[in-house]
Amino acid sequence: METIQIGMLGLGTVGSGVLQMIQNNEDKVLNVTGRTLNVKTVLVKHPDHHQNVADQVDLTTDVAEIINDPEIQIVLELIGGIHPAKEYIEVALKQHKNVVTANKDLIATHGPELVKLAHDNHCDLMYEASVAGGIPILRTITSSFSADKITEVKGIVNGTTNYILTQMSQQGWSYDHALKKAQELGFAEADPTNDVMGKDAAYKMVILSQFAFGTHVNVEDFVVSGIDHLTAFDVQQASKFGYVIKLIGIARVIGEGVFVEVASTLVPNDHPLATINNEYNAVMVTGQAVGDTLFYGRGAGGLPTANSVLSDITSVTKNLVLKTNGNQFNNYQRQYIPADPQQVAYRYFLSLTMPDVTGQMLKVTQMMTQIDAGFSQITQLEEDGMAHVVIITHQMTQEQLGQLQKLLGDDATINLEAAYKVLK
Ligand SMILES: NC(=O)c1ccc[n+]([C@@H]2O[C@H](COP(=O)([O-])OP(=O)(O)OC[C@H]3O[C@@H](n4cnc5c(N)ncnc54)[C@H](OP(=O)(O)O)[C@@H]3O)[C@@H](O)[C@H]2O)c1
Repeated sequence: METIQIGMLGLGTVGSGVLQMIQNNEDKVLNVTGRTLNVKTVLVKHPDHHQNVADQVDLTTDVAEIINDPEIQIVLELIGGIHPAKEYIEVALKQHKNVVTANKDLIATHGPELVKLAHDNHCDLMYEASVAGGIPILRTITSSFSADKITEVKGIVNGTTNYILTQMSQQGWSYDHALKKAQELGFAEADPTNDVMGKDAAYKMVILSQFAFGTHVNVEDFVVSGIDHLTAFDVQQASKFGYVIKLIGIARVIGEGVFVEVASTLVPNDHPLATINNEYNAVMVTGQAVGDTLFYGRGAGGLPTANSVLSDITSVTKNLVLKTNGNQFNNYQRQYIPADPQQVAYRYFLSLTMPDVTGQMLKVTQMMTQIDAGFSQITQLEEDGMAHVVIITHQMTQEQLGQLQKLLGDDATINLEAAYKVLK
């Protein structure tokens, strides 16, 4: 029986899971692909940390031992970050090795050039694990939605922030306290910046948009805001109105364009995404024919992510058997046209502070009238001579929101503390 030799770059959380799954699931892979898999060589930074597997694989600190090994047909990039992962993938592809990666940062920022390089060298480049860890979403979009027109893809694609937001909502904790707990439990990294500022979710939305709409949008092209400014007060007020606040990544066809955003968003309690708690992820894909579909699961973790890596490895292996490597993971391509801000309309949650004196609310009402917008819910709390006002508006466009922010900014007595959109 022919064995497919694999070279692995990185043996951390995901790499260890992949090694374990390849060893434990040999029969199933053989049944599906007709080949056995063997991890031959593993690149690590600190070989002394990995002596427990030294009798199973060749450990190396020299990438050339993998890249130049003619027996190795598949290279797994599980190091993370942009450099040297990008250079390693480039050399591997140029040496005609098929590549599987879990690296969202790299695929979101340099995906198109790596995809072209893979195509030029008749190699596969697959990255199922780069979005939502264990949820098999990318292959599902390419295969099961291949004929439907996707109108929207949205979801909770970062487990760290979802854990923090769940605790803020369920325990009444402050953001700082919930972050500290998340770090203690291993749900947040020591430096959580990429997660809490929304950047990690934004990388995933870049990749999801590409699969759903064929468009290559850059993270710089859309609004990305995190959860670091969210207050326990806003979470409580949202709850009183019947909403839970989630970090939602959204990519939606509006008119001729595509609207993409990552932001804290009010989700109605009866919406399926409101029930996704703690470190779990969920992606909702809406197709013109099929309507709403929801994919739920673990967005991170060694074995869940390894399962997605293994699904790529089996696809590459099937292609090796059939000699059909070199087709793009997703070959749907369209030009990216940003949605017109006059057509992007949502209801908004506005959190305002102002001196608790007569006439202040009248001013806010007049500003709303001036931009031709109205509100459906309002609440006011007084504390130390200040009024804290929370409003849920009727639908207004991004353009109207911008006008309102300007009017409020011009009034020295009213502070707009937060503006979060409300999910439809
Ligand atoms: N963790 C998850 O749940 C998850 C989920 C989805 C996607 N991903 C993605 O999967 C990838 C790997 O993540 P991870 O959590 O497994 O990372 P990790 O635990 O930090 O492991 C990284 C591994 O790469 C090795 N490494 C790092 N820099 C290296 C270098 N310059 N040369 C050689 N080896 C190097 C490290 O070696 P040493 O062990 O010797 O230090 C380590 O084994 C990332 O792209 C990440 O975004 C992770």
